[in-house]
Amino acid sequence: MHRSPVSFASFDTRPLSSSLGAEILGVQLSRGVNKQLFQDIYQAFLEYQVLLFDVQPLSPGQQVEFARFFGEVQIHVMNQYHSDAYPELYRLSNVDEHGKPNGKYPDKGTMAWHTDGSWRQITGQATILFAEMMPSHGGETHFCDMYGAYERLSPEWKERITGLRAVHNLDFSRNRRHAEEPMTDAQRRQVPPVDHPVVRTHPETGKRCLFLGDHAEYIVGMDYDKGRKLIDELNNLAIHPDLIYAHRWLPGQLIVWDNRCLLHRGTEYDVEHEPRVIRRCTVLGEIPQE
Ligand code: SIN
Repeated sequence: MHRSPVSFASFDTRPLSSSLGAEILGVQLSRGVNKQLFQDIYQAFLEYQVLLFDVQPLSPGQQVEFARFFGEVQIHVMNQYHSDAYPELYRLSNVDEHGKPNGKYPDKGTMAWHTDGSWRQITGQATILFAEMMPSHGGETHFCDMYGAYERLSPEWKERITGLRAVHNLDFSRNRRHAEEPMTDAQRRQVPPVDHPVVRTHPETGKRCLFLGDHAEYIVGMDYDKGRKLIDELNNLAIHPDLIYAHRWLPGQLIVWDNRCLLHRGTEYDVEHEPRVIRRCTVLGEIPQE
């Protein structure tokens, strides 16, 4: 059963699952976003964690402009993914220069549960993803609610992880998932490992959530292998089928999500035969607090 919809002055919403996600009805972002509309979008973002905007034309420039309403837009360190005219956009595409699928996943790290930019001191707030081309099967994006994941931990688990900090490291996750194209030394130097609380309090809703995912490498002050085991265990415990919203894309749809309180991942598709092209833009948030 889906949640009941919440009303906003500028639009109606249609919840997408029992846990998280809502469709924003009747809003065309390319027609301009005024202060009231953005306030309502932001309230809905805090309420639902994932917002879906229906199929609409949205140029790369308009996507970046919309992202700037949320805050400072990240320029991703992996500059080979920058969209030519917009370094703010991270383009994930399996299409070659002749317009044909090249048979390769552009970034396999995105297919493991993660939260964007957790490898930075100031981590990702919103991510805004626009679908240019989508396969007929697979290539979904899945979101899992980390408020719910924290709530469902036993009191013993909660006590065990209180006060722990995890080191997040893009070089670690890149080597683990997409080792065929590792980071360059220059890229590595720009993003040294950082540590964040394992249990994070959302700065705006005040709710607690698990904050780990695939970039988390080890636990500060704990034996490396023990910390790895703990992170793997918690990352598995965090994923509950009824806390997931699985989105099947249509080209032209746009989704905004809150990286501070969910994990997400892309799913497999036929990279040999089906094109999939998305533009992703991540807005910077704050330093996570326990
Ligand atoms: C991402 O993790 O940023 C992209 C997810 C996707 O490809 O669906």
